[in-house]
Amino acid sequence: MKMWGRLVLCCAALLLSITSVCAIKKLNSVNDLKKVDFGRAVPKHSLLLLHWFANTIDIDNNDVIRLTFDPNLGTYGSHHYGNYERLLNPLPQGNIKYRYYTVGNLFQGRSDLPGYVLHPPNAEYRGRNRDRIIFRVREHNTGWQNDERIDEVYITQHYDNSNEGTRYDPSYTYQITTNLLQQIRAFSVEDNQGNSLMELREDFGSNIDDSRLSALKISWGELACLGLLLYIVLEEKYYQNNKPRPAEKRNRLPHCVVNLPGNSENHHDASHSWPERPVQNSIQLEVMTGTNGKAGISWQDVPYHRVNERVMVVLYKDNNAQEAMYSTVIGSESGHVNTSAFLNVGLQARLHKTKKKYCFWTVPSDEICRGNEFRNPGKVRIHGYDASLQLFVKDGKACARLFVNKSFGNWTSEFKKSWVGFYDNPNKPTQEYEWWQWQWATKFKPASTPLDYYHDVYEYHSSMAIAPGVQARFILKNDIVMAQASWM
Ligand SMILES: *[C@@H]1O[C@H](CO)[C@@H](O)[C@H](O)[C@H]1NC(C)=O
Ligand SMILES: *[C@@H]1O[C@H](CO)[C@@H](O)[C@H](O)[C@H]1NC(C)=O
Ligand SMILES: *[C@@H]1O[C@H](CO)[C@@H](O)[C@H](O)[C@H]1NC(C)=O
Repeated sequence: MKMWGRLVLCCAALLLSITSVCAIKKLNSVNDLKKVDFGRAVPKHSLLLLHWFANTIDIDNNDVIRLTFDPNLGTYGSHHYGNYERLLNPLPQGNIKYRYYTVGNLFQGRSDLPGYVLHPPNAEYRGRNRDRIIFRVREHNTGWQNDERIDEVYITQHYDNSNEGTRYDPSYTYQITTNLLQQIRAFSVEDNQGNSLMELREDFGSNIDDSRLSALKISWGELACLGLLLYIVLEEKYYQNNKPRPAEKRNRLPHCVVNLPGNSENHHDASHSWPERPVQNSIQLEVMTGTNGKAGISWQDVPYHRVNERVMVVLYKDNNAQEAMYSTVIGSESGHVNTSAFLNVGLQARLHKTKKKYCFWTVPSDEICRGNEFRNPGKVRIHGYDASLQLFVKDGKACARLFVNKSFGNWTSEFKKSWVGFYDNPNKPTQEYEWWQWQWATKFKPASTPLDYYHDVYEYHSSMAIAPGVQARFILKNDIVMAQASWM
C-alpha cells in the first residue's frame, strides 16, 4: 500500500513537471546489505555505525522506533540535518512535526560513541569519518502526550571528492527498514548469551564453517556477533548474489525521492538549469570486472533523451586522465560493455556527448558525468598474526599483497611453510588451487611503491585472469587457511 502511495506521489509529481528521482534504494534485510558495495564505494565502517545505531535505539513490539538520546543536545555527535540539497523527501507539513538528524561524526561524537565505532579493532573497518546515519523524527503532540518516534533511517556518506563540499552522495544513500534494524539487533554485542554464534549462523543461513567461527571468536572477542554479521555481509556476498532469491523480488521497487525545484545551496555547476540537474545525479556509471581480465563498464538510468541524442561511455585511466582508452556509443538507458582495456585500479567511466569528426566518425565531446575510480577490495587480516592479505588486480591478473606489521620481525620464520594460493571460486577445496597459481609467502617481492607506513608490503602477481569469485587464500601450512580475500 505504502509503496503504491509513493509511486502515485512520484507520478503525480512528474505530471506537475516536478522532476523526481527514484534513486534511494531501500535495504530490508541482511541479504540486501550484501548488494551494497562495501569496501569500495561504501566504507565498511558504515556497517559498524549501523550496528551501533540499531542497538542504541529502542524498538518496541509494534515496530515503533524510539530515541534513547536527545539529538538536539549533540549526543553521539548528532545534529539537525536541513536536507537543503534535497537528498531526502521534503518533510511533510501539518500538525505532526518532522525533522531530520544526522549522527556518526567521529570527531564530534568521540566522547559518546563506543570504542568499536571510534577505533575499530581491525584496520580495514576504520572510517575516514565520511559515513553517517540520518534519521527522521516524527513528533506528534496529542494534547496529553508528546509522542516522538523515528520513522525513517538512512545510511549515507559525504562525497569522496572535496569539490562537493560537505554534501551527502545520493548514489550511496540507502534507506534502512525497521525489519533490517531488527535483524541487525540479533547481532547485539551485549546479548551474547541470547543469540549464540551458532544460532545466528542458522538463522541467517550462513555457510561459515566451525573453524572460521572459532577464528572469529578469537579475533573479535566480545564483538564476535558483530564479526559474524560483517562476515556474512562482506564475505558471503558472492554465494548469495548467485542464488535466485524470489522472496526478495518484492522489495525491488525503489523508494522514490521527489526533488522540487528550488534554490539549492550547492550549485557546483551553474550552467545546468533545472530540471536537468537532479536527473543527471542519478546516472550511475561503474567500471567492473569484465571477461578475461578486461574492464567492463556498466551504466544505469541514463535519461532517454540523452540516449536519443547519442552519448558515449568512455574509459579513462583515472580521474585526472584526459586521454580516452576506450569509447562506445550506447543505445539504451542501462547496460554494460566489455572493453578492450585490461582492468586496473583507478579506471574510471565517464559519459560524454558526441560529435562527428570528418563527417563520419563519432567521437566524444562534452562530458556529462563520471563514475568512481575502480578500487581493489580491502585487505583481510591473517588470523592470529599482525599481517593481512589483499587481493588486487594488475593488468587484468589476480595478484596478492601481504602487509606485515613492521614490528613482526620474525615473520619469515613464522611463515616459513606458508603459501598463498589462487582459486577461481570460493567453493574450491584448498588443495585445488589453480594450476601453478601459488607462491610461498617468503618468496613474495617487496612492493615497488611504499603503500603503508606501518607495514612492509610484499606482492605476488599470478598469471590468472581476475574474475568475480576469484579468491586468494593464505595457507599457514598444510591446508590451514588463515585468510581468504575475495573478488566481488
Ligand atoms: C561480455 O562478455 C560476456 C562473456 O563473454 C558475455 O556474456 C556478455 O554478453 C558480454 N557483454 C556484452 C554487452 O557484450
Ligand atoms: C603493529 O604492531 C604494534 C606492536 O605490536 C602495534 O602497536 C600496532 O598497532 C600494530 N600496527 C598495526 C597497523 O596493526
Ligand atoms: C617469533 O616471535 C614471537 C614473539 O617474539 C615468538 O613468540 C615466536 O615463537 C617467534 N617465532 C619463531 C618461529 O621463532
